[in-house]
Amino acid sequence: MLIGIVTERLPGETRVAATPTTVGQLIKLGHAVVLERGAGVAASFGDGDYEAAGASVGGLEEVAQADAVVAINPLGADVLGLLRPGTTVVSLMSPHTRTDEIADLVERKLTGLAMDAVPRISRAQSMDVLSSMANVAGYRAVVEAAHAFGRFLAGQVTAAGKVPPAKVLVVGAGVAGLAAIGAAGSLGAVVRATDPRPEVADQVASLGGEYLPVRPEAETSATGYAREMDEDYKQLEAQLYADQCRDVDIVITTALIPGRPAPRIITAEMVASMRPGSVVVDMAAASGGNVEGTVPGEAVVTENGVTLIGYTDLPARLPAQSSQLYGTNVVNLFKLLTPAKDGEVVFDLDDVVVRSITVAHGGELLWPPPPVAVSAQPTPAAAAPAKKVEEPKPASPRRRLAALGAAVAVFAIITALAPPVMQGNLTVFFLAIVVGYYVIGNVHHALHTPLMSVTNAISGIVVVGAFLQVGVLDGGTGIAATVLATTAIVLASINIFGGFGITHRMLSMFIRS
Ligand code: NAI
Repeated sequence: MLIGIVTERLPGETRVAATPTTVGQLIKLGHAVVLERGAGVAASFGDGDYEAAGASVGGLEEVAQADAVVAINPLGADVLGLLRPGTTVVSLMSPHTRTDEIADLVERKLTGLAMDAVPRISRAQSMDVLSSMANVAGYRAVVEAAHAFGRFLAGQVTAAGKVPPAKVLVVGAGVAGLAAIGAAGSLGAVVRATDPRPEVADQVASLGGEYLPVRPEAETSATGYAREMDEDYKQLEAQLYADQCRDVDIVITTALIPGRPAPRIITAEMVASMRPGSVVVDMAAASGGNVEGTVPGEAVVTENGVTLIGYTDLPARLPAQSSQLYGTNVVNLFKLLTPAKDGEVVFDLDDVVVRSITVAHGGELLWPPPPVAVSAQPTPAAAAPAKKVEEPKPASPRRRLAALGAAVAVFAIITALAPPVMQGNLTVFFLAIVVGYYVIGNVHHALHTPLMSVTNAISGIVVVGAFLQVGVLDGGTGIAATVLATTAIVLASINIFGGFGITHRMLSMFIRS
């Protein structure tokens, strides 16, 4: 199949639907690629780079002769008018809202594949452009906020005084929200995050953020998406945001409920309560806005000096990487469509991913597709009545004293009955138990594995003892002692070196490549 890559015509768009790397990958699938001259320039990819990767470069008329034309933004009538019936068009299409444009594809007998209709199921993750772009956008939202904030995000202690870290609130911990939490945390800010889905709390914590529950007993989401919340929840939520806005320096809102306009979260009153110089980035500006007063596509400063950023082109502000990620999503789509990697497209409408993204085919309107069951978070509480697990009660001080007394008595009896040569060893053994109990008992559970792997070095004592026994000739037992000692050296060495090996692997997990 000949795949054409067009120049984006949307004003301000800097991305391109394929990079030299992804062109190479498409060619490996058996396809040929033709690129419209200059398509990658705004993303820093020259025509020569594409030619070196195996693409040919030409004018729009040549690209329009391709069997599939790939773009980021929906193609306008100027490009569609040049395409032959039967051509496949791959781009973002917003099929929920741009119904006229979908009808146009049907009329022109084009096949329309909407990249923004990829279902959020595990198998389709590698083609999910909404996620890959939201990830870039979440990062860029923090960069924009930091730029407008004009102060350090990290705290500092210098000879000239102390600088406190900036406090960042991220509203909504989906794809964009998690990327924003990670980026703000890595710049050194104190990050808090909210989301009606309590299951995200661990993800927030793993990125170094603090999860603020609106209602601590909130239910886990059954679909993996937020749903419209009740009035009681909304009141608690409003109170939380009012308190947070008075406290934080930067708010980044990413709240979204699929199929609905963006929920209004931050009111003008809350913005008015923020300190001058604070920044709010409303990532949902294009779909109605989470923040009262945001202007889509612009940054405005309120009367009390708060900057409201409503940029709707955040991924396009990192064009090279956004293009690379979008291009990879496209390659993964073509991998699905080219199972034999021979350049022959197999268009299987029984495949749930292909069906979900196909809006038009052979003059037929195929939108909306049948619903797809999205990956849901397991809801253990709902699945089975939770069994109350009895927490083991800590022993009372009297019982602990009695147990200690009994242990001392048993030790005294054993020591008294033991031959005199053993008594010193038994005392050391008993003291080792007591010291070991207190040392290990005070180490956090999460650190038991590294502790165990390092303390394997204690086996060094076995090695020393075994070395002393090797070659000791004592009557007829010399050979047996040497064999046993050699075996002990081998086993103890495995323990020691294995322990250090595991410790090394664990430490490597904390080293950034
Ligand atoms: P997502 O669906 O992965 O995440 C949205 C999150 O909002 C979910 O975790 C959901 O539980 C949460 N949420 C829903 N109601 C909430 C509420 N009342 N309070 C707090 N959290 C709530 O969506 P994704 O992909 O992260 O996108 C987030 C937003 O960013 C969308 O509005 C999207 O259109 C926008 N976006 C903006 C871009 C830009 O250039 N400005 C670029 C890419 C995405």
